[in-house]
Formats: sequence, C-alpha cells, structure tokens
Amino acid sequence: MQTLINEYALFKDFAYSYKLGPKDLILTNQSLYEAFISPVDIPSIVIFREQFGRGEPNDEMINAIILHIEQYDFERVVAIGGGSIVDIAKLLVLEGVNDIVNIFEQKQACNKNKELIVVPTTCGTGSEVTNISIVEIKSKQTKLGLANDAILPDDAILIPELLRGLPFKYFMTSAIDALIHATEALVSPKATPYTDLFSRSAIQSIVTIFQGIVSHGEDYRMDYLAEMLRASNQAGIAFGNAGVGAVHALSYPLGAAYHVPHGEANFQFFISVLNLYQKYSPEGKIKDLCLLLASILDVKPSEAVESLDALLKQLITKPRLHEYGMKEEEIDIFVDRVITQQQRLLKNNYTALTRTDMESIYRNLY
Ligand SMILES: [Fe+2]
Repeated sequence: MQTLINEYALFKDFAYSYKLGPKDLILTNQSLYEAFISPVDIPSIVIFREQFGRGEPNDEMINAIILHIEQYDFERVVAIGGGSIVDIAKLLVLEGVNDIVNIFEQKQACNKNKELIVVPTTCGTGSEVTNISIVEIKSKQTKLGLANDAILPDDAILIPELLRGLPFKYFMTSAIDALIHATEALVSPKATPYTDLFSRSAIQSIVTIFQGIVSHGEDYRMDYLAEMLRASNQAGIAFGNAGVGAVHALSYPLGAAYHVPHGEANFQFFISVLNLYQKYSPEGKIKDLCLLLASILDVKPSEAVESLDALLKQLITKPRLHEYGMKEEEIDIFVDRVITQQQRLLKNNYTALTRTDMESIYRNLY
C-alpha cells in the first residue's frame, strides 16, 4: 500500500477535484478554515482541533475528539493542518477505539474503516506519507509513536497556497524538521539507494532555500513554497521507509516536558549527533552526507557539519536546555526515557550510542 500524492495550486482546485461533500469530516483549525476553506463553501462536517485543547496532541485530547465525532456519519477524514492535526486525524480512521492509549500500548488492534486524506499546511512533518502518529501520553510523561499501515494516508495533497500564512518561525521549525528527516534517513542502516534519492533531493532543496533566506531575507521563502513542500514530502517518503533515529529519540523527552516545538527540539540535538556519528564511523554514509553538504555550502567536507550549524543558527534559535526550564537532574531521567521508550527509533541509528554518549549530549547542551 502506498499514498497517492497530488499537487494543486489552490485549495479550491483540490476541493472540487475530490468532490468534498457531506460525508467528509474535515479536521483543521479556525484560522485555516476562515482563510481557505470557508470561501469555497463546501458542505462537509468541520471540526477545529483547538476546541479540544491546545499544544501538541495528547491522549486526553484525542479521546475527547473520538467521543465528539461519534454523532457524525462520514466516510473520509480530511486533515488540513500541521503535524498535530495530521497526527490526530490518522487516529480517527480507526474502528472501535475508546481510549487511544490502548492503541499505542498495542492492547488493541488497528483496524481502519475510513479513508484518510492529508493536506499539510507546514513544510516539515512529511506525515502525509508516513504510517506514523506521535502522541503525548500524559500518564507516562512522554511522547510515543505508533507505526502501523492502518494509519497511512490514502491521499496526500500538496497545496503551496496553504503555506502563505505560515509565520516565518513555524516555517523554519517545520523546514528544519524536514531537513533532519532527510538526514537521519540518509544515514539510517535501513536506507536504500531509492530512499537516498529522496533524502538527497530534500537536503539539496532545503539547504539551498535556507541559504537564499539568509542572503535575501524571510520573504524569499514565498517564491519557494512549492519546492519546500515537495522537499518536505520527499523527506517524508525517505524516513517513512528508512526511519529516523537518535536526533528524534533525544528530542522527544524535551518536547514533551517543556513543549518545545518539534523542529526546534530536534535542532538542539542534530549537530551533536552528527558529530558523534562522524567520530565513531567517519567512512560510512556520513561521508556521503558531508560531501553533499560541502557541495551545497561550498566548503570542505571536513567543515560541512560545522557550516551547516552556522547556517541554521542564523535562522532558528538554539538556547541552552536549561533556558527551556530543564533541570540538571533531568539529564538522567531523559536518558532513561530515551532508552526505555524510544528503541523504535534508536535501532535506526547510524552507529550505536551508549548511555554515556546520550548523557554527554544532554550535558553539553544543558
Ligand atoms: Fe520529525
């Protein structure tokens, strides 16, 4: 099974082409609805995720949505939004769920009984082409990932128009997440020559656009929204097959405890993980990555990771971890959570990282 990918210049082109109607349940937010959906006047059921809570998705919020939508008769779920909306929508196509924790803890099987159409409005998650949903499980104080083909979208729709209103900060945190997806997928032991095509293309586009933004200013991105959306999608295809690893694993405890945006939390760990990979196994795929980055950034391969860090720091903040409120004693707690809860990701690491490695990464960034 794979996701059908379609691209439309405007939201209305998609709405007419897919004949959005009364048997469609749209999950979105109010500002997207007012800007793009309401003017097209479609007779679908619409719910706003913010009615059920703010912040990144958690089990309580999703259970409330599942209870609310029982009153409706619908055949397709249409997610129009960023990563949170997509992660929630993926769980709404499952049959007979009362408590989503049972799905994440694999106490209940995933059976799909609705179609799923995903329309991303950020350029980062790639979630429109992956079978993964990430949710904060409040009682466990962490985020857990569900990877199951039952939640793979049937259709992914790329509409650059929808990124026009995305503030620069959100554009950047999502784009950097896409860059990290492509990079972690490229060096993953599960990478293939086919996933590499997608990873390399995404890295080339994203880093080149970042250079343009540094040279010409924030508005430069407006001419490259379609390219960035495609790059994010390509990164999604790459990591949907090859996986992501330590950067994501280390970032989840921070994201869950201090509500750091996902892309920003990932950026914290990105360069440290690449540096360790380079130290442990400099002759493998990390070498290919450095050659690719060096050619884009016009530096020596030995300077590629450092130059990438310098470029990214001009675009996104990288405070010390304590500035988010993290406590020094949480270093051990976070490492424990990574080791006990993120093995799904750690098995995609380029080289194994020890407990001491992870501790030193957190400590150096603290
Ligand atoms: Fe991510």
